[in-house]
Amino acid sequence: MGMDLVLGIETSCDETAAAVVAADRRILSNVVLSQIDEHRLYGGVVPEIAARAHLDHLDAIIAEAMREAGIGFADLAAVAATGGPGLIGGVLVGATTAKAIALVHGLPFIGINHLEGHALTARLTDGIDFPYLLLLVSGGHCQLLAVEGAGRYRRLGTTIDDAVGEAFDKTAKLLDLGYPGGPALERAAEGGDPARFDLPRPMVGKPGCDFSFSGLKTAVRRRVEELGGALDEKARADLAASFQAAVAASLVDRSGRAIEAFEADHGAGRPFVVAGGVAANRTLRAALAGLAERRGMPFVAPPLGLCTDNAAMIAWAGQEKLALGQVDGLDFRPRPRWPL
Ligand code: KG4
Ligand code: ZN
Repeated sequence: MGMDLVLGIETSCDETAAAVVAADRRILSNVVLSQIDEHRLYGGVVPEIAARAHLDHLDAIIAEAMREAGIGFADLAAVAATGGPGLIGGVLVGATTAKAIALVHGLPFIGINHLEGHALTARLTDGIDFPYLLLLVSGGHCQLLAVEGAGRYRRLGTTIDDAVGEAFDKTAKLLDLGYPGGPALERAAEGGDPARFDLPRPMVGKPGCDFSFSGLKTAVRRRVEELGGALDEKARADLAASFQAAVAASLVDRSGRAIEAFEADHGAGRPFVVAGGVAANRTLRAALAGLAERRGMPFVAPPLGLCTDNAAMIAWAGQEKLALGQVDGLDFRPRPRWPL
């Protein structure tokens, strides 16, 4: 077809996803099947159920991505799949399927670090150059990174306990908001009074760029208990809004410090990027956009559907690796833990 196309596959958590992305940043298809209904009964993702659901659906999702892109496997330049970190049963399903396609069609296979998928999304959506400062906020991670190139990440800060998405999910559970917690909490907070509950602003004013969210979650639990456990609609909305305000203050403070460290190395005016599932939160996006504006940095946040898990970001990371000649053998071993 004359354009370099990469098929991406994402199966590291509870979405089964496949996408085709061109080297010129065009997304030819981006199919995401959420397993929310399979896991809702249990209030969270059940790894065994997730792995079996990926196995049940991945073939059809790949076929749909290829059909939407209007291509056959022979038109691909490579197949990329999430190789970790994540729930290993699901990662094995995705990576093994990708290897099989690569083997049959004589294509390179590329194992992608899921975090790298999130980290490079802004280059897919906005075409920005390196370096940039990245706040990566997802269900499993909360990090500030200087992104200096594909595969070149310098960590400026990380969480010392819970990831921020985890804090959203656990707090949503405390507030009886159901699963998945992040989007439910954001909805509940609409119209709530963020000033009603005086919750702690974790790490604000502390040196360094690390995060901590478990104390905030505990503070919310204490407020719920003080209210007698039975929350009315108003208390729930106010607590949700107060929680979001505390998270926003913490992220803004930590990111502000990271900007100083980043700009000492890379100068002023480089982009400030937010990525990962929690970056879909509008309150947090607005707070971070305000920070970027005050510091004179372009602010880049992917569209909501490319913040939460998807395969377009995996295909794109595959493009970046392919351009660097970094492909993997079929002996690539998926990794449940894989720091950037
Ligand atoms: O990046 P992601 O889809 O999966 C991981 O790699 O972890 O992130 C999922 C996390 C979950 O904790 C989810 O509750 C959170 O992102 N999340 C949100 C929102 N949408 C998803 N948190 C806050 N507000 C949202 N709108
Ligand atoms: Zn993710």
